Amino acid sequence: MEHYFTNATNLKSEIRTLKYQKDNMAFTFLSDNGVFAKNKIDYGSSFLIETILKYEKRAITDILDVGCGYGFLGIVLSKFYQANCLLVDVNKRALHLAERNIKENQVLGQTLESDIYAKVAGKFDLIVTNPPIRAGKKVCLEILKKAKEYLKSDGVLWFVMRKDQGAKSLSKLIENDYKIDIVAKSKGFYIIRGENILTKNGN
Ligand SMILES: C[S@@+](CC[C@H](N)C(=O)[O-])C[C@H]1O[C@@H](n2cnc3c(N)ncnc32)[C@H](O)[C@@H]1O
Repeated sequence: MEHYFTNATNLKSEIRTLKYQKDNMAFTFLSDNGVFAKNKIDYGSSFLIETILKYEKRAITDILDVGCGYGFLGIVLSKFYQANCLLVDVNKRALHLAERNIKENQVLGQTLESDIYAKVAGKFDLIVTNPPIRAGKKVCLEILKKAKEYLKSDGVLWFVMRKDQGAKSLSKLIENDYKIDIVAKSKGFYIIRGENILTKNGN
């Protein structure tokens, strides 16, 4: 069985257009077979965006979206914070769409084919992810735990996870790395913010 994160090159392409509106900003996302949330922006992802925009008031200039799919999270945040976004995935089709969506929505951004952080360089103010639960807990934990190495000293990690997919247990596993807050909950989705623990010690 093909998962959305595999490179299913033989999968027929059927490009479709998804619309998203937040406040007075309108976005258009090209989507296709073989990518996550191909027919509809994922509820967890849009809840994550709304929560970040409501609570994250610090200046953000560099964003990293890990497991970007067609780029929804990174692109919307990039527009609102007027920041640059680096969009990372292992799915080539998703990355191709993300590239087109960066242009379509006129944001500053780049795409990168990378297994989690394998090819990522630099430090970011904000790392955002709707982690690939279907790729397994090990991959998700690595995304969350290693984010720390790519955050600026006052950087923040934001992610969404369903309660029944282990939101609490995964948060526990990273509580020595970040100051963790469950910022919002809706329909079984938890929005979690992890502040780089260095900031607590003033380093
Ligand atoms: C739940 S989807 C989220 C997609 C998008 N961020 C959104 O919110 O609509 C998770 C994404 O992680 C990607 N992914 C899976 N394994 C990965 C890995 N090892 N490294 C980077 N990305 C990965 C999948 O291809 C998929 O696009």
